[in-house]
Amino acid sequence: NTTGSSKRTAEEDQGKIHQRGFKKIVTNRTPQDFFFIKVLGEGSFSTVYFAKEVDTGDEYAIKVLQKSQIRREKKVEYVLREKDVMAALTYAYGGHPFIVKLYCTFQDNDRLYFVLTYAKHGEMLNLLRRLGSFDENVTLFYASEIVYALEFLHKCGIIHRDLKPENILLSDNWHVLITDFGTAKILGSDKDVPDMQRVKKLIEENEQDDRSSGPRNSFVGTAQYISPEVLKGTSVGPECDFWALGAIIFQMISGLPPFRAVNEYQILKKIGQLDYDFPNGFPELPRDLVCKLLVVNPENRLGHAQTGGIEALKKQPYFKNIEWELLPNRPPPPIK
Ligand code: ADE
Repeated sequence: NTTGSSKRTAEEDQGKIHQRGFKKIVTNRTPQDFFFIKVLGEGSFSTVYFAKEVDTGDEYAIKVLQKSQIRREKKVEYVLREKDVMAALTYAYGGHPFIVKLYCTFQDNDRLYFVLTYAKHGEMLNLLRRLGSFDENVTLFYASEIVYALEFLHKCGIIHRDLKPENILLSDNWHVLITDFGTAKILGSDKDVPDMQRVKKLIEENEQDDRSSGPRNSFVGTAQYISPEVLKGTSVGPECDFWALGAIIFQMISGLPPFRAVNEYQILKKIGQLDYDFPNGFPELPRDLVCKLLVVNPENRLGHAQTGGIEALKKQPYFKNIEWELLPNRPPPPIK
């Protein structure tokens, strides 16, 4: 379909996002190039729309960010981090089937636009809530896909740091699409987003009054998947994503995350103390794996270089039948 092409120069057409193989991030698009069809989700400073490209009908999720709000809420660093990391993963490293791609970005006076892979089946969290929990086949399917995505991510020198069922989206054919790289860390870079210091502040503020019944500050977000070393604010490596993986596997099987309490601070305390229990009937192989992932000292955690790195994780008995390279083309088990 070449309708509309006559309006563009050949040079502009080179950059059209449906022409694969370009290397640079495309910025010559405008909101008029897309039909904005419906709102998929709303954050405090962004709205994600389901959109179709006018020329091709291709489907995307477009994240629209209000510049004034980003400045007011001091989120500039997150937004830049998200864009840089997603652009690096998509272009410098060629993208991964289980990670949301950033196809292009553009802006107008008031807004920034990020054109992303559309995840038709939305957040894994919603599926989990709808089903209560996943059966063993579905859990193994998703656990393997997350491991495969993390292998790619870490090889690119990127740590996600906020992996949770809200940030694991599901594609049209029910494969995972990891998203939300606003708090990701680029290994070897000293720069960091301010959010990680906020967790530290929460601990300090609450430690002064351990009896507090609710959070005394503005900490928002899900504390349930944060690893102990991220909490402490000590140096953080890829292992924090393996901690989150352990918590997510626990939740897929039992329906609830391992560390639960009446407020965020109490959750963080339980994480530091490794205060969690498996419900009755939790199957043995994933239980064994979760025990090796939910380890307070990251050096002793499965996935750390000292425990054999990601190769040791992939070789766990739980994953013995997984053919890693074939995962993207494998049909999902019945989702029930
Ligand atoms: N919500 C946030 N990002 C999304 C995406 N890429 N696809 C679908 N829903 C989303």
